[in-house]
Amino acid sequence: MTERPLLEISDLAITFPGGRGQWPWQRQSDVKAVQGASLSIGRGETLGLVGESGSGKTTIGRAVLQFIQPASGTIRFGDFDVTGFGRSVPAAYRRAVQVVFQDPVGSLNPSMTVGQIVGEPLQLHFGLDRAARQARAAELLISVGLEAHHLERYPYEFSGGQRQRIAVARALATEPELLVLDEPVSALDVSTQSQVINLLERLQDETGAAYLFIAHDLAVVRHISDRIAVMYHSRIVETGEADRLCEEPRHPYTELLLASIPDPDPKLQPLKSRRRRELTVGGELGASGSAPTESCPFAERCPHALDICSTQFPDPFPLDDGGWVRCHLHTSGPTLAGQPITQLAVV
Ligand SMILES: Nc1ncnc2c1ncn2[C@@H]1O[C@H](COP(=O)(O)OP(=O)(O)O)[C@@H](O)[C@H]1O
Ligand SMILES: [Mg+2]
Repeated sequence: MTERPLLEISDLAITFPGGRGQWPWQRQSDVKAVQGASLSIGRGETLGLVGESGSGKTTIGRAVLQFIQPASGTIRFGDFDVTGFGRSVPAAYRRAVQVVFQDPVGSLNPSMTVGQIVGEPLQLHFGLDRAARQARAAELLISVGLEAHHLERYPYEFSGGQRQRIAVARALATEPELLVLDEPVSALDVSTQSQVINLLERLQDETGAAYLFIAHDLAVVRHISDRIAVMYHSRIVETGEADRLCEEPRHPYTELLLASIPDPDPKLQPLKSRRRRELTVGGELGASGSAPTESCPFAERCPHALDICSTQFPDPFPLDDGGWVRCHLHTSGPTLAGQPITQLAVV
């Protein structure tokens, strides 16, 4: 129970320098892509990271992969102090943390055969010779639902879903402890999405790998995740068990994301569309404004906003399921503290 998490991110901040403005003397301000982000993932666990486009999800994933350096905060993975790596990332870390991107066309080298693509990490990390690589690559292809004879083929000969299976096979080749899956099914049609999600769930049972599953679609994230972290405009605003978070959301933005999922039950539709109308007042879903950093980033769009919300972003308020919410409705109102947001007066 008290086992240390596999991945622990504390108070992470990531800033991109502003580029040139429209005129030579103008300089755009720095982009605070991630601020004060803390999260953890246990061994074999799936953490879903959800939020609209531009909220900072990919940036967190890239920091974990050490493609970018954070401005402040720490990332710890097993015994590794990831933020202390500097320019030299240990091969053992590269082996242990692998990635699958959204776009399997862009992420698979079109001039390499599938055998070379899946075989490359086997040579790099395990030093396998050609015959051993081919044999292991064939096993990996079969484990992702493809066939051994596909080794000789090129990426363009496959469908989008099949290409994503190849990307998963390559990522699993190093026997990683953590897979960063950045919108791995977002480019696929709905039926292919569920096949790939089911595959990822089976592979997790077989390999014990933990997943950081990044997506903008809460319905997809809920299906695969044990726990979920919700991001809005560079901030994580709520975390918790997947079922609790989706059934009893505590942050108004989590509720907005839920209200945006089409519900197959028509009886619930009027309620949902009313909530959606109320919650989208002040901004379109998908638009990221430029709220000042001290305020709650969601304050301008929030139907429950209090005066304090525009001047202060609250510390995390702990919840029963081990998660937390950063919302003044819970920290400032004793009668509301810890209540599901759905029980607040939304009408
Ligand atoms: N390399 C970069 N240079 C400048 N700004 C960036 C860069 N990468 C991301 N950003 C900005 O950081 C913010 C978060 O982006 P991102 O992490 O890609 O969001 P998400 O994955 O949630 O869509 C956005 O405002 C985006 O424009
Ligand atoms: Mg992204």
